[in-house]
Amino acid sequence: MTETKIFARLQADHDRHRELLERIDATRGDGDERRYLFEAFRVDVTAHAASEEMSLYATMLANPDLRDAAQHSVAEHKEIEDYLTALYETDFSSTGWLTRFRTMKKRYLHHIDEEEEEMFPAAEKGLPDAKKRELIRIFETEKPKEKARAAEEEPSSEDARA
Ligand SMILES: [Fe+2]
Ligand SMILES: [Fe+2]
Repeated sequence: MTETKIFARLQADHDRHRELLERIDATRGDGDERRYLFEAFRVDVTAHAASEEMSLYATMLANPDLRDAAQHSVAEHKEIEDYLTALYETDFSSTGWLTRFRTMKKRYLHHIDEEEEEMFPAAEKGLPDAKKRELIRIFETEKPKEKARAAEEEPSSEDARA
């Protein structure tokens, strides 16, 4: 069904993120691989979350029955973004990096499991089919732009406070 395409598309991203998390978790601190894989993860997750907010969550926020679930997810996006910035700013070869990474990993896995088990089924049930078809179009249009933007930017905790 075309209407369900948006949820399959979002889940495909999640599956790629799960795979990257496992690969990063297995890296040692003394090579470029950790930095390379983390950057791939950071850019894709940042773009995924931004595009998810512009499509699915913007629509859910406008629906009184779905608003609370959407607000919960958007708050978690902010939490994950802060973790990603902290990791970006931490020495990749330090033991503290992997400890912080594993905290972020646990939170992110919680986030995407919850989206798949609660938010997506609620939206699947609560949104009209025409709206769901529109969401996949918005997501596919925005994600490449958001990816380019995330790859260019230097995450900074200074900016976040400003
Ligand atoms: Fe999300
Ligand atoms: Fe997601």
